[in-house]
Amino acid sequence: MNKKPIILGIESSCDETAASILTENEQGLPVILSNIVSSQVDVHKEFGGVVPELAARSHIEKIDLITKKAINESGVKIQDIDAIASTAGPGLIVCLSVGLSFGKAMASSLDKPFIAVNHLEGHALSPKLNSNLNYPYLLLLISGGHTQFLSVKDLGNYKRLGTTIDDAVGEAFDKTAKLLGIAFPGGPQIEVYASKGDPNKYELPKPIFHKGGCNLSFAGLKTAVLKISKQIKTEQEKYDLAASFQKTVEEILLKKSKIAFEEFKKINNTKKNVFVVAGGVAANKNIRTVLENLCADEKFEATFPPVNLCGDNAAMIAMVGLEKFKLKQFSKLDHPARPRWPLDQNAVFLKGAGVKL
Ligand code: KG4
Ligand code: ZN
Repeated sequence: MNKKPIILGIESSCDETAASILTENEQGLPVILSNIVSSQVDVHKEFGGVVPELAARSHIEKIDLITKKAINESGVKIQDIDAIASTAGPGLIVCLSVGLSFGKAMASSLDKPFIAVNHLEGHALSPKLNSNLNYPYLLLLISGGHTQFLSVKDLGNYKRLGTTIDDAVGEAFDKTAKLLGIAFPGGPQIEVYASKGDPNKYELPKPIFHKGGCNLSFAGLKTAVLKISKQIKTEQEKYDLAASFQKTVEEILLKKSKIAFEEFKKINNTKKNVFVVAGGVAANKNIRTVLENLCADEKFEATFPPVNLCGDNAAMIAMVGLEKFKLKQFSKLDHPARPRWPLDQNAVFLKGAGVKL
């Protein structure tokens, strides 16, 4: 019996310090041996958002303990780790540098290969942790910093089909939460508020709904929420606004996913079309249901990571590490931290005023 690869994954791109040990079973499917995530919510709460300097300090304080815990919980001996995979971008440079340097130092001292991982590729591959997912597939990445449709041809081979031209969906959730007086990070709490409200109470705008292919926009929605939030007096009105906001996001994602399905089919001739939804916002139950129903209608197979692996974690980083390890795609120890690192390096930058769709 061949020894199965054992990968240590490390994540520190934003406000989660995380480490995970991943291996695979006899069938070649990944097995998570440990997955430790330490959130910094309490550090940033009073500021209403992530403060880079504080986030970096917190990563420095915790990274060795979290990694030690991941190794101990996995039952693996440190010498048996075959490679170390760290997030190298995109993210906050002061935060990325912590996990990246730590991973490189471990690889160097253990004399094992080092693998630099794109955080977005981690999200893109996260459903592989619980399902037998094969390439190619259509990916909708919905996180705090990104909202994109990508055709995923193979490991490292991405074609962007559409992107937000302003805010990310998660950002819109967090900003709406802030306007409703919900503590940071408010996205998950909007889901709770929405469950108690009337989704048809407020009519909200859906920017570029009828144009721009599967590109998306959420800035106008946020401005409308801002205006209405100023007139809100009761708790019930807050619930209604949260529900109306969430319903509008669902409608935008539904319409744009439908367009993305057509664009994906034009460039991929596969027997089975698969739609993967990943990133923090993929934890939202209503959004999952709407997109699952769409997939049933359009004959796409819907695939989501488990809810606990939608947000930032190191198992998804180790997952990319495992695939790269098998292909011997190792990185040099001088691999830089890359604050901006698009999955589709050829896609044009589509943000800001004057964007032509
Ligand atoms: O993927 P992620 O953990 O971090 C980034 O890479 O950005 O995504 C975090 C985002 C935040 O904006 C958070 O509010 C949002 O995901 N989020 C949700 C839910 N859970 C997390 N948004 C809506 N509904 C949820 N249940
Ligand atoms: Zn993320």
